[in-house]
Amino acid sequence: MGVIEQYIQHAGEAMLRRYQPREPRLLYDPIDYVIGLGGKRLRPALCMSACHFFSGDGKAAEAAAMGLEMFHNFTLLHDDIMDHATMRRNQPTVHLKWNENAAILSGDAMMILASQMMLDVPDTVLKTVQTIYLQTALEVCEGQQYDMDFETRDDVTVDEYLSMIRLKTAVLIAASLKIGAMIGGASSRDADLIYQFGINIGLAFQLQDDYLDVYGDPETFGKRIGGDIVSNKKTFLLLACQKLANSEQKEKLKYWLHAADFDRQEKIDAVVALYDQLGIAVLSKEKMETYYMEALRIIEMLGIELQYKDALKLFASHTLFRTK
Ligand code: IPE
Ligand code: IPE
Ligand code: MG
Ligand code: MG
Ligand code: MG
Repeated sequence: MGVIEQYIQHAGEAMLRRYQPREPRLLYDPIDYVIGLGGKRLRPALCMSACHFFSGDGKAAEAAAMGLEMFHNFTLLHDDIMDHATMRRNQPTVHLKWNENAAILSGDAMMILASQMMLDVPDTVLKTVQTIYLQTALEVCEGQQYDMDFETRDDVTVDEYLSMIRLKTAVLIAASLKIGAMIGGASSRDADLIYQFGINIGLAFQLQDDYLDVYGDPETFGKRIGGDIVSNKKTFLLLACQKLANSEQKEKLKYWLHAADFDRQEKIDAVVALYDQLGIAVLSKEKMETYYMEALRIIEMLGIELQYKDALKLFASHTLFRTK
């Protein structure tokens, strides 16, 4: 088993050990639920792995890694309300299983639990880690707001989309790596490089998330397919479609983007038909590959052992081909 996979396994166990539910149950039950459902645990695994690359052991970064995973899980509770999502990790979303108030307040509590965990890092890097964490947390909110703003705009550019996904998704992946690296004693050059690696992987990761929201298998992906199309998310797929469509296709797309009352599946099928006519899936894969290539280039510049470079390369290619 590779080093990153080892920390994925470790993260599952460590989270249950470090998170202790309390009373009142209605505050903590939704947290137990979403944490218990697992997920891929990529962020904590990357954090501990990065620490391992520079120090030979990821344990010193365990608390921070769990904090980052708790923060990520918090964003999912609120994101699912904002996106009207019904399924997450193959189970009903918290706001459906309980109600919106529960998802809001349990989410708030998770953000606070995350911040507590982020205090449990070596004194020498406490201030730096806190600075990166808080900046990242704010950026995720900024990204989420752009994501929502874009739903009602029809002039969003690909560059705007890329800076939006950088904020909502890539910075947390990048910060997980950087924080782990800092705890592991990395030089600031290496910490910055591994952050840049994370940004590129994070962009590819969100491009793939958007792709899977259309072309994924709901059983494997764990979310209901087509949500992005239904809510007019300005994904790379949609923007490429807008750009490449002929006038007749543009009209069709415009119709569905502005339709107030529609059948969910009919809208999804119509938009996917346009994507398919224009070969949008391939374009999205190509875009992902540019970030993958850049990520590989950055790996070569890192001052870490060859075996760890290989672990990062493997992880990068898994991101590109992931189905969940
Ligand atoms: C989902 O993140 C939110 C995005 C940034 C796309 P993950 O795909 O990492 O979700 P889990 O934690 O594995 O469920
Ligand atoms: C994920 O964007 C961003 C955050 C959760 C911060 P999405 O809205 O695409 O994530 P999923 O698809 O619901 O997991
Ligand atoms: Mg969202
Ligand atoms: Mg969502
Ligand atoms: Mg998504």
